[in-house]
Amino acid sequence: MTRPSFFIETLGCQMNEQDSLRMRQQLVQAGYRPADEPQDADLLIVNTCSIRQKAEEKAYSILGRYRLLKESRPGRLIAVGGCLAQQKGDGLLERMAYLDLVFGPHQVTEVDRLVEECRRRGESLSVVSPCAATLEDLECPGVTDGVGLKAYITIMEGCDNYCSYCIVPYVRGSEKSRSHRSIGEEARRLVTRGVKEITLLGQNVNAYRSPDRKGFGFPGLLESLSRIEGVRRLRFTTSHPNDTTQELIDCFGSLGPLCEHIHLPLQSGSDSVLSSMGRRYTMGEYLEKICALRGKTPGIGITSDIIVGFPGEREKDFEDTLEAVRVVRFDGLFSFKFSPRPGTRASQFPEKVPEAEMSRRLEILQALERGISIEKNTDLEGESVEVLVEGKSRSGSQWMGRTRGNKVVNFKGPKGLLGEFVNVTIEHGGPNSLLGRMGETVDPSRLFGFGEAGFP
Ligand code: 5AD
Ligand code: SF4
Repeated sequence: MTRPSFFIETLGCQMNEQDSLRMRQQLVQAGYRPADEPQDADLLIVNTCSIRQKAEEKAYSILGRYRLLKESRPGRLIAVGGCLAQQKGDGLLERMAYLDLVFGPHQVTEVDRLVEECRRRGESLSVVSPCAATLEDLECPGVTDGVGLKAYITIMEGCDNYCSYCIVPYVRGSEKSRSHRSIGEEARRLVTRGVKEITLLGQNVNAYRSPDRKGFGFPGLLESLSRIEGVRRLRFTTSHPNDTTQELIDCFGSLGPLCEHIHLPLQSGSDSVLSSMGRRYTMGEYLEKICALRGKTPGIGITSDIIVGFPGEREKDFEDTLEAVRVVRFDGLFSFKFSPRPGTRASQFPEKVPEAEMSRRLEILQALERGISIEKNTDLEGESVEVLVEGKSRSGSQWMGRTRGNKVVNFKGPKGLLGEFVNVTIEHGGPNSLLGRMGETVDPSRLFGFGEAGFP
């Protein structure tokens, strides 16, 4: 009998990407095989996101397509996981009777068992445990990307900030950190398997506090992971400005593997909007953090998130956001229109900004950021940067890798560079990526497979 096949579509953030990798690992261990396309799969899974209405609609549209696939081949199963499943639970089964399984983020490692139960019972199943993660939920034997060079480690989950617009605390629960020992073990396991870059994940990653040792926080964790032999690059996401302490800022430039990049969501440049968002910092305080970061590590890459059209955002507030972007000069920016999420305080706020006005503001903001990104990337022309080669470029004719500052670099080079650290001289800076010329590999012996990190 051929093994059943599965296909997972992932929406949303890196936490979901990580959950999908775990699901994939679990299903493969249970005897499933991955399919390249949804039409080839016996089990179709959508790992959903509920951060904005658009993400929710995308999930419904994918499910609509899967429904047709199921009709064309009875026996196919459709499962919905992730944050939307957590939020809506049984409601999804009521709305879409063709679904077979609804499961929450904490059921990802049981998905094979749940699918079997569905088949055995011959009926739909909804299994969504309360949103508070247990520490065991966060434990992970270590999963990597397809290539095996980069891995994520979930170090904490949930959020206690309750920003007025955000659904995350309702679907992912309150902050829960994993033991620093188990994180260290996972990192060691990953580097012995050849992983060179580790990204620490959490909805509020820099609020990390080890449950095992009092006072052992995020800077301590970064320091201990930096000491593990074979951890060549260390990153983390996403940070809250209020947990970006001087001690954390001091880690940059001091811990060798810690890459010079921070994603630090600003959300708005207006103090009155920040206040009604419940962000608990002012623009001035945010700028102080930026100055401290750049004071410590002048070339640090700083990226951010901004919401336009928050209820009550006047033209003057929006101008303040534009001014903030001009002053900070982010290396990259994710910008969104405000989307009211059910159950959040901001969904009830009056003074909604009309859709057309939100679109106008978003366009202006994105045009401003595009100009800044081009300028900043052009400034890098002539510089030599260290690149970890991750694969082929989009066109397929070049190599693609990332700088320590998390910028994408495309360049021509010989075969066999995958997983190598090479020096690349930047020749052209575009809005989203850099084009360069390859210099020597950082450690030439690596080209021949000797002395590779993790393989002493
Ligand atoms: N509407 C628009 N954007 C949102 N974000 C979070 N909630 C909402 C919402 N209700 C954005 C924030 C956050 C990013 C992950 O998504 O900018 O940092
Ligand atoms: Fe949402 Fe981030 Fe605010 Fe937490 S800190 S409520 S995840 S926006």
